Amino acid sequence: MVGSANMDIVFSVERIPSPGETLLADSVARYPGGKGLNQAVAAARAGAATTFIGALGKDENGSELFATMADAGIDSSLVRRVAADTGQAFIVVADSAENTIIVASGANARVASLTDSERDAVSGAAVLLLQLELPLEVVIESALAARSAGTTVMLNAAPARDIPDELIATLDYLIVNEHEASLLGGSEDLAEASHRLAARVEHLIVTLGREGSVIYRRGDEAARVPARDVMAIDTTGAGDTFCGAFAAAIAEGQGIADAATFATAAAALSVQILGAVPSIPSRDRIEAMLAEPA
Ligand code: RIB
Repeated sequence: MVGSANMDIVFSVERIPSPGETLLADSVARYPGGKGLNQAVAAARAGAATTFIGALGKDENGSELFATMADAGIDSSLVRRVAADTGQAFIVVADSAENTIIVASGANARVASLTDSERDAVSGAAVLLLQLELPLEVVIESALAARSAGTTVMLNAAPARDIPDELIATLDYLIVNEHEASLLGGSEDLAEASHRLAARVEHLIVTLGREGSVIYRRGDEAARVPARDVMAIDTTGAGDTFCGAFAAAIAEGQGIADAATFATAAAALSVQILGAVPSIPSRDRIEAMLAEPA
């Protein structure tokens, strides 16, 4: 995992405020988060040996996130502690479980290139999972290093931004939600956007929340994976849980549809608890959900 780590400050409110409006929150709490850390925790809890490459500040938030990695059994020996604030995310979660997120990158923005040890770790991994919360140059460098070493490369294109062809060419798997698919595929018509995007990568997975996910292989729709109907409390980190669990399943040799089914169950469990890292399920819980009749 080459990715971001943030301390999330989560405000629970009745509804998402409008521009210019002040709302009183029902509660506020801090939880470990960040797309990279959430995905690393999801992979580790799903049973994968996971190494985290990224940066934390030398502050209290950094120490808490470092402890979170240890608790999850993540190898944090390459994590940098830099002279910057640890990344923070300000999250508003409404009663409907929808959220809005603003990220202050802090230490994450300092990861501009890989050290030799980090490059070796990337090259020695079975799977590299990336997101777009670190500087784009290190995402590209990591993907190129992985590609040339034969490591499977996965990108979760979140937060959405244009992906250069150089990066796309390294990918074995691209994972996006509906919003990211429309943006990157250049159409408000999701099917059209997804097909355009699918034509650029070997495997594309479009996650659709409670509608499950659609898998494309070499430009064509290959499978649809339904989601379980669950009561959502907070969807923050559900996409990350999907990505981390999916990466773990692919790393252990599951086929793409089985891996997506496993990851979909993990994501469904994650929306039932407030907070990103606290909501990410263990493998036992994922397997128990899969064993239940749909
Ligand atoms: O995907 C959810 C994550 O986005 C949050 O944990 C927050 O830190 C932001 O990175």
